[in-house]
Amino acid sequence: MGAAAVALALVFVFIKLELGESAPQFPCFFIFGDSLVDNGNNNELNTTAKVNYLPYGIDFPEGPTGRFTNGRNIADILAQLLGFDTYIPPFATAQDDEIINGVNYASGSSGIRSETGERLGDRISMDRQLVNHNITISRIAQLLGNHTSAANHLNKCLYYFVVGSNDYINNYFQPDYYPSSSIYTPQTYAIALVQQYSQQLQTLYNSGARKIAVSGVGPLGCLPAVVGRGSSGSFTCVDTINDAVQLFNDELKLLVDRLNNNYTDAKFIYTSAMELNPIELVGPVIRILSTPCCQVSNTTGLCVSRKTSCLLRSLYFFYDNFHPTEVVNTIAAAASYIDVLSLIFSS
Ligand SMILES: *[C@@H]1O[C@H](CO)[C@@H](O)[C@H](O)[C@H]1NC(C)=O
Ligand SMILES: *[C@@H]1O[C@H](CO)[C@@H](O)[C@H](O)[C@H]1NC(C)=O
Ligand SMILES: *[C@@H]1O[C@H](CO)[C@@H](O)[C@H](O)[C@H]1NC(C)=O
Ligand SMILES: *[C@@H]1O[C@H](CO)[C@@H](O)[C@H](O)[C@H]1NC(C)=O
Ligand SMILES: *[C@@H]1O[C@H](CO)[C@@H](O)[C@H](O)[C@H]1NC(C)=O
Repeated sequence: MGAAAVALALVFVFIKLELGESAPQFPCFFIFGDSLVDNGNNNELNTTAKVNYLPYGIDFPEGPTGRFTNGRNIADILAQLLGFDTYIPPFATAQDDEIINGVNYASGSSGIRSETGERLGDRISMDRQLVNHNITISRIAQLLGNHTSAANHLNKCLYYFVVGSNDYINNYFQPDYYPSSSIYTPQTYAIALVQQYSQQLQTLYNSGARKIAVSGVGPLGCLPAVVGRGSSGSFTCVDTINDAVQLFNDELKLLVDRLNNNYTDAKFIYTSAMELNPIELVGPVIRILSTPCCQVSNTTGLCVSRKTSCLLRSLYFFYDNFHPTEVVNTIAAAASYIDVLSLIFSS
């Protein structure tokens, strides 16, 4: 996405957020994935991958909630664009009838593979997120009276996936802790990951989902955690990592085509909204690419608790060593919104 497209997307989002919507474009919105969309599911887990402390949430109305950024995350902004007047609640704390509009199952450090993120502690892997969705389905059937009504509700919902990053940065590219890189080449790893993802998406289909969006993985070789800072001051992404991720994205696009061919009563889409490259995005809005906004821990790459963050947060691409700032999330959510529009009109 070039700078002009980004500026247009931003204008579009601001107008849209200003106008609001009378009724949501989907009756319900379910979110699966990792820290890019987690909104508090890790808070009570025994893990270093949790962020319910300042300066996270410094720009969020409720303060620190477990969102891995300064303000709203991509799922929050997408929910607003879709016309929801409240954020989708995290599975960990969702109560009573709030689940009728959707639930957010995402968990920081989690991945498609169950061992992904293990070194950081507990996390809710994709398989477990799907088990949690089954619990939600039972609750919705109770709320609506029976499984037929629940099924009629659930097949109209948007199911949105942001997962895969940790299968690389908290698995494949940590050979000291995970064996995957000695078992697979980047190509066979991408195929194995997408194979497992395929099973997970079919499980979701079997539980009644019919409108499903999957996100490609961003250029992880450009993360501050990976790029390293200081030496020359220049910013160069790590090609081996970006190339490995590209193989995954290519496989995932092929999977979406196969699923659409096999399940003609459903629609699957691939969204490249998460694939924002900091180098291409620099320009009118974002000016600081390689330095995170907050002071990060040199062991976790997350913000150090209670240290102040930068003041001009909207000039920065990264909030910590891994996660984008709210302004970048806004751009990604706008791009996602445009992609998921095609699901609204699918029957
Ligand atoms: C949390 O995890 C760490 C490391 O995995 C472990 O040593 C510790 O006992 C765990 N704490 C609790 C309360 O389970
Ligand atoms: C969810 O429940 C259905 C029906 O009981 C079952 O077939 C499926 O395996 C369950 N899925 C998961 C991920 O537990
Ligand atoms: C399920 O509930 C709906 C709404 O309450 C009702 O109209 C329908 O007849 C019920 N279906 C069955 C199979 O019980
Ligand atoms: C699609 O259907 C074919 C033929 O039944 C099957 O071999 C293949 O595994 C299916 N692929 C997916 C992604 O469901
Ligand atoms: C991390 O930071 C601490 C304190 O600032 C320092 O003592 C330590 O050497 C650093 N560790 C690494 C691996 O850079």
